[in-house]
Amino acid sequence: MPLKTAKRGAIPPFIVMDVMAAASAREATGKDVLHMEVGQPGTPAPSGAREAARAALDNDRIGYTLALGIPPLRERLSRHYKDMYGLDVASQRMVVTTGSSGAFVVSFLSVFDSGDRVALADPGYPAYRNILKSLGIEVVGIPVGPETNFQPTPGALANIEGDLDGLIIASPSNPTGTMIARDEMIALVDYCKERSIRLISDEIYHGITYEKPACSVLEFSDDAIIINSFSKYFSMTGWRLGWMVVPESLLRSVECLSQNLFISPPTLSQLAGVAAFDCGEELDALVANYKRNRDLLLEMLPKAGFDKLSQAEGAFYLYADVAHMTNDSQEFCRRCLAETGVAITPGIDFDPERGNRTVRFSFAGPYEEMAEAAKRLIDWKR
Ligand SMILES: Cc1ncc(COP(=O)(O)O)c(C=O)c1O
Repeated sequence: MPLKTAKRGAIPPFIVMDVMAAASAREATGKDVLHMEVGQPGTPAPSGAREAARAALDNDRIGYTLALGIPPLRERLSRHYKDMYGLDVASQRMVVTTGSSGAFVVSFLSVFDSGDRVALADPGYPAYRNILKSLGIEVVGIPVGPETNFQPTPGALANIEGDLDGLIIASPSNPTGTMIARDEMIALVDYCKERSIRLISDEIYHGITYEKPACSVLEFSDDAIIINSFSKYFSMTGWRLGWMVVPESLLRSVECLSQNLFISPPTLSQLAGVAAFDCGEELDALVANYKRNRDLLLEMLPKAGFDKLSQAEGAFYLYADVAHMTNDSQEFCRRCLAETGVAITPGIDFDPERGNRTVRFSFAGPYEEMAEAAKRLIDWKR
């Protein structure tokens, strides 16, 4: 008899990682690849963070830390909420995690039971859906489009049949870069409060905004869970460092989960993370580059036929409706890579229902690479 395998492990792949594998297979044959698939800055961690890590390697033991993170980082995070949003939030509520990905696992386990129902926007970041599924939590997709700026609204929530236990939002969003305006955010928070729906706000793209700063759900609710990370604005993806702000009532459960699941977040990264907060000038220059990339692509991509684009106000993504070009976005992206060397991600990663007719462009790379990619796409579609 074959050995048993668990159903909970049978979740869909994170397709962008498969695209990355195809891109590196192409690179291994000596062909070039212009990377618009991967959602990570093409730059290293800021210099202050790298210096702090170097010093720590020389002087520190790099042992385990407290499960909730080192006190200087938790204090620095608390100051961040004062500096960025004008909020006084106790450092005790700051929980350092192994990337925001670690925060998803801990937060979902701390507030949802198997069988609970959690809503999220389609299109949205695929790992929310896949982690929830693996935990036996029912995912309720909210189909969103340009008419609501690709974000959920109280109206859309009211149309869902049955009760909800949770809602996950991201503003700016991956894959669209669109944001929830302040008054709409307040309406969403109120909707959730009135119905005891636990709100989880993924604020990983805060700091990478182009027209106006993002508001934090923490400004309107102390019951929500806020998730953030050093991966995007701080350009530290591989350091695997993130954080949460949790309600006091959840602290002990979050601590016990963190102790048992991870022992502690990466120590070297925590020490570097404290220093990263002093690198604002360097990091804001990266944001200026992303804006330059976005403006270029908003001008160039329509010339390649990608003329139905999300209006990215933040993050480093454009989401394109390509229904007039394909109804198989995976095949479309495979052909695009093979015929132009430009790697892009099929929408099916973000929207299981409608993603066969959409693709995502990431513009986190260097400007010259984005310009060359746009030129090739224009030639491809000519
Ligand atoms: C919206 C969103 N949340 C979370 C993550 C995961 O980030 P981390 O590196 O902090 O685990 C990503 C990564 O692309 C993302 O786009």
